[in-house]
Amino acid sequence: TTATDDTLRTPIVAVLGHVDHGKTSLLDKIRGSAVTAGESGAITQHIGATAVPLNVISEIAGDLVDPTDFDLPGLLFIDTPGHHSFSTLRSRGGALADIAILVVDVNDGFQPQTLEAIDILKRTQTPFIVAANKIDTVPGWNPNEGKPVQQTMDAQSDRVQSDLNEKLYEIIGELSDNGFSADMYWRVQNFQANIGVVPVSAETSEGIPDLLTVMMGLSQRYMKEEMEIDTTGPGVGTVLEVKDTQGFGTTLDAIIYDGTIRNDDTIVVGGLQGPIVTDVRALLRPRPLEEIRTEQEFEQVEQVAAADGVKIAAPDLDDAMAGAPIRVIRDRDRSEVIAEVEQELAEIEVTTQEEGVVIKADTLGSLEALSSTLEEEEIPVMRAEVGAVAPRDVRVAETAGEPTNQAILAFSVEVLDDARDLAEQEDVELFEDDVIYQLVESYDDHVTAIEE
Ligand code: GTP
Ligand code: MG
Repeated sequence: TTATDDTLRTPIVAVLGHVDHGKTSLLDKIRGSAVTAGESGAITQHIGATAVPLNVISEIAGDLVDPTDFDLPGLLFIDTPGHHSFSTLRSRGGALADIAILVVDVNDGFQPQTLEAIDILKRTQTPFIVAANKIDTVPGWNPNEGKPVQQTMDAQSDRVQSDLNEKLYEIIGELSDNGFSADMYWRVQNFQANIGVVPVSAETSEGIPDLLTVMMGLSQRYMKEEMEIDTTGPGVGTVLEVKDTQGFGTTLDAIIYDGTIRNDDTIVVGGLQGPIVTDVRALLRPRPLEEIRTEQEFEQVEQVAAADGVKIAAPDLDDAMAGAPIRVIRDRDRSEVIAEVEQELAEIEVTTQEEGVVIKADTLGSLEALSSTLEEEEIPVMRAEVGAVAPRDVRVAETAGEPTNQAILAFSVEVLDDARDLAEQEDVELFEDDVIYQLVESYDDHVTAIEE
């Protein structure tokens, strides 16, 4: 069947990379908004999603994009805070994102979270390009605001050109060390076999036309079939965040990646105690070109079609988990949909044993990632859960037979005050971190200290 525009959904683009390498700034430039300015301490606290329609992309890309060459509706960008990695962005069958932009600071090169991101891209087989950001910081750089990158590179002195090329080839070398053949994007013929590197500046917008052109081209050329969906069927999505929204109680920030969700639908959501069945009370959406996390006044919409971000207000969402599936029931069999969500939750592999440590994480995806790291290290896990560290977690950890197992590893979650007090009282060790390998390292150090 030939697709018409109505059945092509917007490709989902995840923007990931090490802290401060410029993910949010790049999106800001693309969106023309100033999210960075409104962020506390310029660190992204939450995940947001923004749809950029094709006409906006073609305006920014200028001569490089002819909108008549494309029939995709645009791109849906998901910003991920560096410390949060990429782990919420899961869907049935792997990655939520269709493609990704890995942002690397040309001066800093590959850093721990760059490597963590590369690992996840590899595991989920997500096609990606590398945005080599901050080219304007090369000493002697002569900025050409908003220009395509080859044009501005040609306009630099020989010295600046060779300095930049040296940095770019370092990045290409690091990609190769990690098993990816890569080159400057304009030399890449086959983006499936080679990773394209796009030099950019989120400060001067140089190279941003190229970045958008490559992303549109990639989606159009390689992903068209996956974009052909039934945009009218019952919706399927992923929870990005569970949070309070004034006037609506506990709500879900979600990405719908298939079908539609309507404001009178009944949905099934993955929760701490299993599937939650609830009636949508309102669908809230930020205005076009604005970011979910900075938008105070939402507009209520009747329905949202994939792919798009939406805030869902409904009763009984307190136990919903970030990273969990959402499915619309509509005219489908209720118990069948509940079973599908149960199945999806069961597929998230966290093997627990009778004896081991307690782990807590902020999302299902990060719980999965932490538990697989511990499995590789042969560290047994007795209890694994999404959510803040509570006194009952300490009570469980306390029962471990081995002193080394009387420990709680908390990834990106709060530790409740009474839990902290109780842990101290009961000699249960608490480990907290926002980077998985650092969390595991500090636990390892503790074990070594006990054993010595
Ligand atoms: P996290 O969300 O904390 O992971 O960081 P991020 O990757 O979103 O980085 P962000 O966009 O917040 O940028 C970090 C800092 O780098 C800010 O001070 C930006 O102004 C600066 N920055 C980002 N891109 C560029 C660039 O291309 N050139 C220059 N000179 N500075 C940049
Ligand atoms: Mg950011």
